[in-house]
Amino acid sequence: DHITRIALIPGDGAGPEVMAEAEPLLEWARARGRRLEAERLPYGADHFLATGETLPEAAYADLRDRFDAILFGAVGDPRVPDGRHAEEILLRLRQGLELTVNFRPCRPLPGTRMAGLHLEVFRENTEGAYCLQGSSEPGRAVDLAVHTEGAVRRLLEAAFLRARARGCTLTLAHKANVLKHGHGLWLRVFQDLRAAHPEVPARGMHADALLCALVQDPAPFGVIAADNYLGDLISDLTAAFAGGMGTAPSLSWAPHRPFRCAVLAEPVHGSAPDIAGQGLANPVGMILSTALLFRHLGWETEARAVEEAVAATLRDGARTSDLGGNLSTGEMGTAIREQLP
Ligand code: NAD
Ligand code: IPM
Ligand code: MN
Repeated sequence: DHITRIALIPGDGAGPEVMAEAEPLLEWARARGRRLEAERLPYGADHFLATGETLPEAAYADLRDRFDAILFGAVGDPRVPDGRHAEEILLRLRQGLELTVNFRPCRPLPGTRMAGLHLEVFRENTEGAYCLQGSSEPGRAVDLAVHTEGAVRRLLEAAFLRARARGCTLTLAHKANVLKHGHGLWLRVFQDLRAAHPEVPARGMHADALLCALVQDPAPFGVIAADNYLGDLISDLTAAFAGGMGTAPSLSWAPHRPFRCAVLAEPVHGSAPDIAGQGLANPVGMILSTALLFRHLGWETEARAVEEAVAATLRDGARTSDLGGNLSTGEMGTAIREQLP
């Protein structure tokens, strides 16, 4: 009779607006008998500007050891131009909790241009170009990218397992022709796992050629695995296939479960400062991320019910303005909740 403890971090800009449409889903799951407890945490730009704190060490340790999951909105604020708080909150959580796998599915919604497509990006989430090591001097700047076999293997294993379960193709995006060391390591681990999973049709592709092929025809692709930086780029492209930034969900997890808190759900989009505070943000990416979290927690009926409620709402023609409709964030969230059993 374990109680699942979920931390909510709405963050900045459109983050709290979309989080407000996800939070009632936790209450709904609880009413259906799921044992969960949610606690909202204030970290983000307002808190940083008021207190100087980004994610205090004690709060980080509390999240790591006393929660099971994190539901995250977005961070990023024009008042913090160097993005320091985003780094110390979001990247700290991804890297500190070793959330190696960032799963970004693309399932274009009914009535959208690419309905029927089922593409999934497995993005390494903790290292590569995001290791935050480098230096600047006048006229010269260095950003290091560090790849370790442990994280690469965990990410690729998750991608192979998923492609096997779906019976679909797996494509590794890389630039090993240039990034000989880092992506060379990726290719070696990939070849190793391909030998262990001969039933999965798997191949590597240069990432530039992959992007061209994806835009021309994404249908042949099932699972795409990529390092942190390439995965970031590819998953915004696939978000466009699914209807745009506001619709894309993501889930990050630590397959090796080093800590109690081993999963974080967040939409692919950011704090959308250009539309924040106006009720224009599409809550679908956030709501579908919550469904991914439910599935990860073993709450399959709730996950499916939320996904079906989103699909039914869109089939009815309800849309926010990014998809050509006129509903506000709150109206869209309400319309989706009205479809729930
Ligand atoms: P963004 O995703 O915030 O916005 C890109 C475009 O998509 C904008 O035109 C925006 O209006 C639109 N958009 C985003 N979310 C939407 C939604 N829910 N509904 C409708 N339209 C939506 O990316 P950006 O503009 O490059 O970055 C803005 C800030 O967010 C930056 O500070 C960036 O670092 C941060 N960011 C944070 C995350 C995160 O927390 N995971 C992700 C991406 C960007
Ligand atoms: C994302 C975002 C982040 C990233 C930023 C905000 C650090 O773009 O979640 O895709 O690059 O990972
Ligand atoms: Mn991104």
